[in-house]
Amino acid sequence: MAKWREAVRLEDFKTTYKFVHRRKEICIYKLEDGIYATDNSCSHEYSPLHEGMIMGGDVYCPKHGSRFDIRSGAVKDYPATRPVKTYETKVEDGVVYVKV
Ligand code: FES
Repeated sequence: MAKWREAVRLEDFKTTYKFVHRRKEICIYKLEDGIYATDNSCSHEYSPLHEGMIMGGDVYCPKHGSRFDIRSGAVKDYPATRPVKTYETKVEDGVVYVKV
């Protein structure tokens, strides 16, 4: 069952942060309107999205440039065809939590 997991202090990352919980890598994003989280692994060929470029609410995979909507995980540009999983987040007392 998914539980809230303490991930990182808000002040300790700028745009993205790779959070690892039991070998599962999750990318946490700091956007203008809040904190979001997706699987860190691109659904195309598993490149780490925390190394990708962020523009608006999208992340571009660093390997082949697939574009994902950070809020929904949906694919917006190929070559990826499958979405990335998203996770609930919350911030309490300056700490980011991810439900995983
Ligand atoms: S590994 Fe991400 S687009 Fe290919």
